[in-house]
Amino acid sequence: WTRLGAEMGKHLLLLGLLLSLPLITAWTVVNCLVTEGSQLPLVSRYTLLCHLDTSLSLFASCSSVTNLTQVLETVPPSVEGLCLSGSISVLPPDAFSHFPGLKVLGLNLHFTQLLPGALRGLEQLRRLTFLGRHTDFLYLPPDAFGNLSSLQYLTFSGPCLDGSLGVRLPPGLQLLAVTHSCLQNVGVLADIFPDLVLASSSGDAWALDTLDLSFNKRLNITSPGALPGLQLRTLHLDHTNTEVAAVAELGLQRLDALSAKKTGMAQLPVGVIAHFGLQELHLGLTQIGRIAPEALASCHSLKSLDLKSSRLIDLPPGFLAAMPSLQTLKLTINQQQIAMLCMNGTGAESGLWALDLSNNGLYTMFPDTFSCLPHLRELLLQGNQLFHLDGQVFQGLRRLQTLDLSRNPLAALGKGWLGSLPALTTLNLLDTQIVLSSAWDFWGPERLNNLRLRLLSGPPRMLSLPVGLASLELHAVSGMKPWKLVTDVLPVLQTLTLKGWGLQLGVQNISKIFPALHQLSLLGNSLEALCSQDTSHFFLWQLPGLKQLNVKGDGHNLRPCCITGLPSLRELKLQLLQSRARPRPVRLEELVGELPMLEVLQLEHTGLETLSAAAFQGLRSLQILVLGWENGLVLDGSLQEHSPQMPQYMYFLTSSLACQCANAWVGPWLERSPRTYVHITTHQLCQPEAGGHSNRPLFPFLWSHCPQTLGLELFLGSSALLLLLLQGLRGQRSEGKRFLYDVFLSHCRQDQGWVVRELLPALEGCPPVGWGLRVCLPERDFEPGKDVADNVADSMVGSRITICVLSQQALCTPRCLLELRLATSLLLAAPYLPALLLVFLEPISRHQLPRYHRLAWLLRRGDYHMWPREDERKDDFWAWLGRRLGQPG
Ligand SMILES: *[C@@H]1O[C@H](CO)[C@@H](O)[C@H](O)[C@H]1NC(C)=O
Ligand SMILES: *[C@@H]1O[C@H](CO)[C@@H](O)[C@H](O)[C@H]1NC(C)=O
Ligand SMILES: *[C@@H]1O[C@H](CO)[C@@H](O)[C@H](O)[C@H]1NC(C)=O
Ligand SMILES: *[C@@H]1O[C@H](CO)[C@@H](O)[C@H](O)[C@H]1NC(C)=O
Ligand SMILES: *[C@@H]1O[C@H](CO)[C@@H](O)[C@H](O)[C@H]1NC(C)=O
Repeated sequence: WTRLGAEMGKHLLLLGLLLSLPLITAWTVVNCLVTEGSQLPLVSRYTLLCHLDTSLSLFASCSSVTNLTQVLETVPPSVEGLCLSGSISVLPPDAFSHFPGLKVLGLNLHFTQLLPGALRGLEQLRRLTFLGRHTDFLYLPPDAFGNLSSLQYLTFSGPCLDGSLGVRLPPGLQLLAVTHSCLQNVGVLADIFPDLVLASSSGDAWALDTLDLSFNKRLNITSPGALPGLQLRTLHLDHTNTEVAAVAELGLQRLDALSAKKTGMAQLPVGVIAHFGLQELHLGLTQIGRIAPEALASCHSLKSLDLKSSRLIDLPPGFLAAMPSLQTLKLTINQQQIAMLCMNGTGAESGLWALDLSNNGLYTMFPDTFSCLPHLRELLLQGNQLFHLDGQVFQGLRRLQTLDLSRNPLAALGKGWLGSLPALTTLNLLDTQIVLSSAWDFWGPERLNNLRLRLLSGPPRMLSLPVGLASLELHAVSGMKPWKLVTDVLPVLQTLTLKGWGLQLGVQNISKIFPALHQLSLLGNSLEALCSQDTSHFFLWQLPGLKQLNVKGDGHNLRPCCITGLPSLRELKLQLLQSRARPRPVRLEELVGELPMLEVLQLEHTGLETLSAAAFQGLRSLQILVLGWENGLVLDGSLQEHSPQMPQYMYFLTSSLACQCANAWVGPWLERSPRTYVHITTHQLCQPEAGGHSNRPLFPFLWSHCPQTLGLELFLGSSALLLLLLQGLRGQRSEGKRFLYDVFLSHCRQDQGWVVRELLPALEGCPPVGWGLRVCLPERDFEPGKDVADNVADSMVGSRITICVLSQQALCTPRCLLELRLATSLLLAAPYLPALLLVFLEPISRHQLPRYHRLAWLLRRGDYHMWPREDERKDDFWAWLGRRLGQPG
């Protein structure tokens, strides 16, 4: 190990780090949220992202963009998804040429114009979205999308395209959406995108999967032959007030599915169904009211029909028989007509597969309502007024897999009703009034694996569950006595949700009852019940296999409950744990303890105030921290030392930092944090607690008003270096390299007299007077002209032991503090690294030391000594130092 070797090693490392950008570099991107695609579900609630594609490696969403060049300079060039919103109106040529890997691009701008070549180079782009106000005009040059050979989805939502003509579409396009715009005449669409219509010369018809023209309030499609030759799978005309029957006249060569919700339609568009042999028809919010029996003759081809909210007062006889291919049916209809489903037909069975009668106001069911539906697999009846169901109702549904009866005032179900549903796998009985009786033992459906149930109070309060359950949700009513679970073990149960505390579950045996439990959700006051036993503040269940825990309080929890001791937990989400009536600031370590495998931590409305290094001690695998709606946060200074081990991503979303000096270090750290990406709103204003009318940006304000920021710059400059060092050291140690020095001696100028007079002779003097050690003394041995931090770090790495001489004055000297920080950081990161010895020249209160817990630890371990005033006690000092330096005698 030579200095040259060290230098080369460092440069190689640096190169390695640069290559692995952007995960390692310092970064926070002003106005932009950067995230990995897989994390999008964690952060998307807080920002309006144009499209969520979790397969993208890196994604950036930037808001308030006023200067495109400026923003794009800061976005990592490797992003695959980019969303921009702001007030830009013109996209210049080559606007995104630095992002050749872009797959998703969303632009929410104040459009006027796309200049030719604006999207040049985006050969991998799959999805392109233009959002805007409906008053904006967007002018597209004809070859705007010419070279986007991978483009599949092209959406214009808002801006008006009427000025553009002859815009070529990329050949692989599957979806074209022009919505919320000024489009009036569907013929204009063919002028803008002539590719859509059959060129009389070529004869090649264009095929699109989806054409979406929804929410064009003034759209008129009464324009015969406007889209000749176009082949469509799906056409969307929702919310357009248009005459749907006119679709048949457009000249389309093919149409399989039509969605026309809220179009003011008064009749089933039988002409369109018959013309195209339509397979799917999605209506809703229409005025249809009655379907004429003769209309049914045209519906032969339908496989899926949605007639929700269509004011149906009648079903014509033979409704189902007229649609022999029908698989999915959604209906809103009153209880009289529901009986007609199976009556008055030919008596033939229907192949119907899924029937949705939810939110319908139904209050009774006739016993034979579903008698002609032997193939039914999904029946949704939630949100009705059903009070009693005859056991006969489900007779014959021998293939039914999913039954949802939730949100009905159901008090009783006919005897043995479950017996007629042998294939049932999923049953939802939440928000009903069903009182479980002792006879209720889920006899019948052996395959039932997903059960959602509400427990009411009432005898016998013994719950026996099907042993094949994979997922169970139990809601308790407040104030009820817990039920006793008589099933000994649920061997395959993976997902358990408890709302309120409804079960008597012993603490010790929980993993025997649920040996396969992966995912646990505790809602309402159920966590409190778990934590308040034995007045413990700790999570009590021992669940060695638990991977995901989700806790959502009800705003009444008076004190935090610390989630700890879950060795396999990967994801933890805590929400609404703050008491609304008596909010109390919480430290992170009060919420989470020892969770060695935790990778994702999400907190919302927990009352979190302080984040310090201590909290991260038990979270060694944490990669992503998401804080939402947590205001007045304080990032404790102890995090500086900890920063090499901080999570890779920290998102502070709709959250704010407190305007306190304790946060002063955060601003510069954000710009140079060595490997953590931090997102925090950058427009935060500071309203100092101690009065005053200052309303200035947070960080500049703190920087100029807080005295302790001295020495910080120096340290921050070195923290990236620190990371290099740590890695270098690991490599060096594993190869058993030798040290350049025995001792690195850190002291401040004011203590130099003592060092030269007392310490150096003992360390460097030839035996037997001294120990003959090689000492690195900064003033003497530093390479002139080299950066101080660099010098310190290099020398420290090259030394076996570091001695810090501490006095009141030393603690006021930035460089001494820097050396101390570096040394303690090295120790923290790798406990086997060079030993650190502290020598106190005068009594120093613990509180005067910088707040590094490792220092306290050193003090406990005895790696420090006070230089005694009395001569007779000096031998003790030298004996201690000799022992620690590994010197005999
Ligand atoms: C936008 O930012 C770039 C780079 O920061 C700068 O050169 C340019 O002048 C800015 N443009 C405007 C209009 O401010
Ligand atoms: C498309 O690509 C061709 C050949 O690479 C190039 O000449 C042309 O300028 C490109 N057009 C646009 C709009 O980028
Ligand atoms: C739609 O356009 C057609 C032909 O252009 C016209 O006859 C008809 O009146 C228009 N309908 C409405 C509602 O404006
Ligand atoms: C339906 O059938 C019942 C008895 O089968 C009959 O009384 C009724 O009139 C029929 N209704 C219609 C509309 O055909
Ligand atoms: C826990 O299991 C032990 C035996 O393994 C048993 O004696 C005890 O009753 C169980 N406790 C609870 C609360 O189920």
